[in-house]
Amino acid sequence: MCGIVGYVGKRSACDILINGLRRLEYRGYDSAGVALLTHERLLVVKQTGKVALLEKRLAETVPAAVREQARIGIAHTRWATHGLPTEANAHPHVADGGQLALVHNGIIENYATLRRQLETRGCVFVSQTDTEVLAHLVSTFDTGDLLAAVSQALKRVEGTYGIAVVSTRHPGQIVVARKGSPLVVGIGDNETLIASDVSAIVAHTRQVIYLQDGDVALVTAEGPQIYTLDNMPVDRAVANVEWEIGAAEKGGYEHFMLKEIFEQPAALQNTIRGRLDLTLSTAILSGLSLSPRELAAIQRLVIVACGTSLHAGMVGKYLFEGLADLPTDPEQAAEFRYCNPIIGPDDLVIAISQSGETADTLAAVRESIQKGALVAGLCNVVGSTIAREAGRGVYLHAGPEIGVASTKAFTAQVTVLLMMALKLGRCRRLSRETGRTLCEEIVNIPAMIQKVLAQNEAIAAIAAKYAHVNNAFFIGRGILYPTALEGALKLKEISYIHAEGYQAAELKHGPIALLDENMPVIALLNDIPGKEKTLGNVQECRARRAPVIGIVTEGDTEAEQGVNDVIRLPRTSVYTAPVVTAVALQLFAYHVARLRGCEIDQPRNLAKSVTVE
Ligand code: AGP
Repeated sequence: MCGIVGYVGKRSACDILINGLRRLEYRGYDSAGVALLTHERLLVVKQTGKVALLEKRLAETVPAAVREQARIGIAHTRWATHGLPTEANAHPHVADGGQLALVHNGIIENYATLRRQLETRGCVFVSQTDTEVLAHLVSTFDTGDLLAAVSQALKRVEGTYGIAVVSTRHPGQIVVARKGSPLVVGIGDNETLIASDVSAIVAHTRQVIYLQDGDVALVTAEGPQIYTLDNMPVDRAVANVEWEIGAAEKGGYEHFMLKEIFEQPAALQNTIRGRLDLTLSTAILSGLSLSPRELAAIQRLVIVACGTSLHAGMVGKYLFEGLADLPTDPEQAAEFRYCNPIIGPDDLVIAISQSGETADTLAAVRESIQKGALVAGLCNVVGSTIAREAGRGVYLHAGPEIGVASTKAFTAQVTVLLMMALKLGRCRRLSRETGRTLCEEIVNIPAMIQKVLAQNEAIAAIAAKYAHVNNAFFIGRGILYPTALEGALKLKEISYIHAEGYQAAELKHGPIALLDENMPVIALLNDIPGKEKTLGNVQECRARRAPVIGIVTEGDTEAEQGVNDVIRLPRTSVYTAPVVTAVALQLFAYHVARLRGCEIDQPRNLAKSVTVE
């Protein structure tokens, strides 16, 4: 997720901006930039890589006296969504002949249309980004009032934004606006700061105003004046930041993992945003660069991935075979790359990787290309190696995932796979009506996840009953089997409990020998086909005195009566059950690990991206 910092006041802006960006580094980014407004001109310096490299570039290119002189500026760390991580695509973006600079966090959905309109008016673009479009759009409306220009421009924008704008034509002013991407205004003594996250400015002031969606504000050293886009004054309360700096970087959460678990409704809204066509009841996945005819010609899908991403791919098998009648083979990437795979031009290989840098998955991509298969990447990091070498694919848009244990990436991966299955299905036998129903369910995923998050305290209480165990089973049937594997992996990797996932029907073929009162079983009993059979397996477990935690659909009293402890989920179809269930299992694992005093964000022996074999 991008980071924004701004300053206007009595002190030199440069160091305040750079130090503010440092406070946002934890969010993950690929480039950074700063715009400084001096009496004479606007200085913009941008750099790929870390903030330290930007600071070095500033020292090399802007004389110290000039850096000192600037009392107003904006700065940005970029998490690429549109366009590769390059200097040209880094923010701030400029317009008006270099007199105006703008930084942005969010996604402008109609940027292509706006860009074409602006190009016909003579605007020249130097980047691939949606943000540059916004900079030129504001400039075209600037007839002497920067606040009005920003408001007019934003009325034409579809999508999400948190922006800050400065211009040489309006000294002493920063205009900011928010819709879907957080922005906070810090109130100082003859100085005002703005940021996308309070951690960037809390060193200077604890008096802050959290802007709300639809707010636009004229910010000067005297403070902010907040309005609606229709220029109606808005009154926002000043809040006092209670957090310590360290906590603020995690948005007040104790760990990044918990923050990312709770980010999932917003993250998945970004994953889904602009990707459903409710008229044709299909998905809009332009990054696949395949026509309906080419999609209809695909005979088989192969999914290559590792770890959590492999579990998402295993869920994908049920989605693609259930919705698109497409044979689908999920393969562990390392096994795939060395087994001389039988694939060819009628196959689409889908490489799933949050980081886009996993060595085994990258090797599987290269092997697939070598054998003439179509390859698509499902990555979260824009411009990552797998995304680039696959040449086509779908970005997750889930924002940076800092916790080593993957959470929002998994649910975003499964959601993208569901949209791909919808698209491939609608190129085959999936009807418009069924497609429409699925579209409506996909749109509802964030709300369903929100309901699970509301169970957090109840899940924590159950976790407390089992935090002492040394082993655990997770069992599920059908599409819930990969979810059981994922739940076991979450518990294993952050609490160090030996947890295993099994097909529920597999228990009596051996694992049942391990059941006793010390082996809790987490049974996925969502009210979808197969539940009754799994309930039978639960009875087998309880007959061996194994305590059972039932993940059940709310209101399913039959399932509740058969287990020792219950976690209730909203009712879903078979296709969205894995996403909703995974969130409950993430919370269960998190609370068990927290109660065991484990290092949750950086578990022992693990790396966020396994870039070696
Ligand atoms: C999952 O919690 C782990 N962090 C790990 O299994 C991870 O999913 C795997 O290493 C694949 O990473 P990738 O998605 O970045 O390729």
